[in-house]
Amino acid sequence: MNPSASSPVDQQPEPALQVVILAAGKGTRMRSRLPKVLQPLAGRALLAHVLDTAHALHDARCVVVVGHGAQQVREAFAGAGQLGFCEQVPQLGTGHAVLQACPQLDDSGVVLVLYGDVPLVRTQTLQPLLDAARGGALAMLTVRLAQPAGYGRIVRDAQGRVSRIVEHKDASPAELAIDEVNSGIIAAPAAALKRWVGQLRNDNAQGEYYLTDVVALAHADGVPVHGVPAADADELLGVNDRLQLAHLERVMQRRRAEQLLRDGVTLLDPQRIDVRGELVCGQDVRIDVGCVFEGRVELADGVQVGPHCVLRDCRIGAESRIEAFSHIDGAVCAEGTRIGPYARLRPGTELARDVHVGNFTEVKNSSLGEASKANHLSYVGDATVGARVNIGAGTITCNYDGAAKHRTVIEDDAFIGSDTQLVAPVRVGQGATLGAGTTLTRDAPAGQLTVSRARQLSIAGWKRPQK
Ligand code: UD1
Ligand code: CA
Repeated sequence: MNPSASSPVDQQPEPALQVVILAAGKGTRMRSRLPKVLQPLAGRALLAHVLDTAHALHDARCVVVVGHGAQQVREAFAGAGQLGFCEQVPQLGTGHAVLQACPQLDDSGVVLVLYGDVPLVRTQTLQPLLDAARGGALAMLTVRLAQPAGYGRIVRDAQGRVSRIVEHKDASPAELAIDEVNSGIIAAPAAALKRWVGQLRNDNAQGEYYLTDVVALAHADGVPVHGVPAADADELLGVNDRLQLAHLERVMQRRRAEQLLRDGVTLLDPQRIDVRGELVCGQDVRIDVGCVFEGRVELADGVQVGPHCVLRDCRIGAESRIEAFSHIDGAVCAEGTRIGPYARLRPGTELARDVHVGNFTEVKNSSLGEASKANHLSYVGDATVGARVNIGAGTITCNYDGAAKHRTVIEDDAFIGSDTQLVAPVRVGQGATLGAGTTLTRDAPAGQLTVSRARQLSIAGWKRPQK
């Protein structure tokens, strides 16, 4: 008896998915030293977006075909999981590129071909292609374009079945009138695709091995060819020059802004926000115009971000307010903080709840305890500041002696008068007061007033010199 026949349900796993990503092209029109697939889109390499999409497909194993700038591309993605590379030198066309990947591809399951410079395609758009390929067909993502120039055109036979793709440069005037175009993205059973790719010829206008010619080979083999129309033409946009890159950046940012709005974030103008990383927001977050978010940024419930702020790799606690033109990088702020306008928080800043950091104040590698304030024109670097400390305008921690950095410690309830310099290492005791203008070079005792300025004197009867 066949043991598998006893199983009530067919528990065969889905056949393996292998993804080939074409990324060998030069990208001449970018006019850049950076290989095209490393150009940033929303703060990350084009190829990173394509790899995200590929990895979101269940159990995909990726092979990236590199050529121009191969070493740089490999290094940029060293350590990315489930990723193989193969080199295509010289670059003789998209079919030739897939041929280079063939030795790394199993014959079982299906192969999906993605382009390293087509970064907006979504996994749900690819799903019907994979389903068709798992059913034994060759499937490609197509789109109708009002201006199809430059793209390969989908040619159908009298029955309406896809019979071949003709590249723009090889097309007849009648074929050029076809507005259904090839996105370049295809899926096919692995064994068949490997066979077809081995049969490609380069007798065409560009002398290249076109991947698109596998369509005619499949048709000749009697294998069904499915043209799967994409719902959203934007997904198939490719990057060939910086105009297109700029356009894709806007498309990507609009997508993100719309997602934030759907998630319940208020954006005063969804056209004027740039998220170049991951932005995680609580409830009732409000973001004014012109803000840039980089790396991973978390804004807790009720946070308000004023116009033209830059936030990178930071966490902002609930009900905090970041006022206009503030720059926050590598900082952690607890609930109820007030920052800016024009404040700068640098890496290693930790603000406890209800801390205020005001205009033209810079904080670096320092912690400020609950309800402490540094509201105007100060530099707080390498400092440990307790709770309820008032740091007056123009206070400077002199943390650097030209060779090493030193810490300043200010204990709870201290009051630092305006225009004070704290020459580190130095400690201000609990409840101490520093008179305005003090240059503190030794520790200030707790509870006392410490002043280091010359005593004020007035000279009666003094006359100004005459000219
Ligand atoms: C290709 C398709 C065309 C489709 C268009 C969609 C072919 C022959 N044509 O044309 O039908 O409408 O995409 O954008 O496939 N690459 C390599 N090695 C090579 C050549 C290219 O890795 O030898 C890579 C490029 O880096 C790029 C991708 O393949 O990521 C597409 O190459 P490109 O030259 O831009 O193809 P198109 O002429 O745009
Ligand atoms: Ca292209």
